[in-house]
Amino acid sequence: MDKTVTLSVIKADIGGFVGHSGVHPELLEKAKGILSGSPLLIDFHVTHVGDDINLILTHELGRNNGEIHQLAWDTFVACTEVAKKLKLYGAGQDLLGDAFSGNIKGLGPGVAEIEVVERKSEPVIVLMADKTEPGAWNLPLYRIFADPFNTIGLVIDPNMHGGFNFEVRDLIAHKKIIFSAPEDIYDMLVFIGAPGRYAIKRVFHKANGQIAASSSTQRLNLMAGRYVGKDDPVCIIRCQSGFPAVGEVLEAFARPHLVSGWMRGSHSGPLMPVSVTNSCPTRFDGPPRVVALGFQLAQGKLIGPQDMFDDPAFDRARALCNEIADYMRSLGPFEPHRLPLDEMEYTTMPLVMSKLKDRFIDLRLSKTKS
Ligand code: F6R
Ligand code: MG
Ligand code: MG
Repeated sequence: MDKTVTLSVIKADIGGFVGHSGVHPELLEKAKGILSGSPLLIDFHVTHVGDDINLILTHELGRNNGEIHQLAWDTFVACTEVAKKLKLYGAGQDLLGDAFSGNIKGLGPGVAEIEVVERKSEPVIVLMADKTEPGAWNLPLYRIFADPFNTIGLVIDPNMHGGFNFEVRDLIAHKKIIFSAPEDIYDMLVFIGAPGRYAIKRVFHKANGQIAASSSTQRLNLMAGRYVGKDDPVCIIRCQSGFPAVGEVLEAFARPHLVSGWMRGSHSGPLMPVSVTNSCPTRFDGPPRVVALGFQLAQGKLIGPQDMFDDPAFDRARALCNEIADYMRSLGPFEPHRLPLDEMEYTTMPLVMSKLKDRFIDLRLSKTKS
């Protein structure tokens, strides 16, 4: 009998190199050093996407395990020391609490975890994005698990034809609801079409109830009650044999969609699928990036990674992103490039409003013709 293995992907921005664009190699080395000494793990892979460090961990301790979360927290704390020494930008920015108290959720880092009994072969894709928010996965997850124009398996694979269940979180009211696809898709789209508030947390295979995908849904700026960093999200997807094929997962990124989080967390831009090497966002701190690392799990060992978007088949998607980026940038400070007032992470509105308050004339009270 194969093991029950937990795959935990935990990420944080604990200091940028240079500015908010990348991660200094010393931090990655530090993280590897700490994790390699841990008896808790079966295996690990340390990587980065833009300015976020991503810890990809396998173990047998289950989801939300205090020891694993503590290990990730301690790793980020140790990396923060290095970031401080090198005076990297925003050192420690995503570590909100001073002390760890059992679960890393709510303390800043983003977390996605799945617990699986390994199948005969267990291919997984780990998606990691920079300069965007958890709701950025809504459209691709919908395409992957509910749209037959993306995923032909929904039509012609008897093991997928029954569809998938989607757990959707209301990130503001802290509620969740399960939608069943395909029956509920029109209802579900009312919500997931608003990714700033509703995010797909988990997807389950409907016929056998198995976990198919899991994402991070932390909204760092809301948790802190003020802007302290980004909620750049991660997502794990199981592939093949009744789950979407690897190529059906990746196909969802071939036609780039617009996401929130570009420059100052206050702009909309296209999500560009890239390799790890090309994941540092430079133009106007962007455009937002997504990386897909593929692994085969083997008794908990991470066989890989395969850098899935390091493929000329995604050149056209990247070229389209650049065209969309040119167009969006041409709008400058105007919506829809700049986000609506209530979604911006930076705003001078209260300041400007208070400065101009006496110059505003209430038209309902004014007797003079306007
Ligand atoms: C950070 C981000 C960046 C920053 C911008 C200003 O994830 O998206 O675009 O918001 O570089 O950063 P500060 O305010 O730190 O100078
Ligand atoms: Mg940063
Ligand atoms: Mg980031």
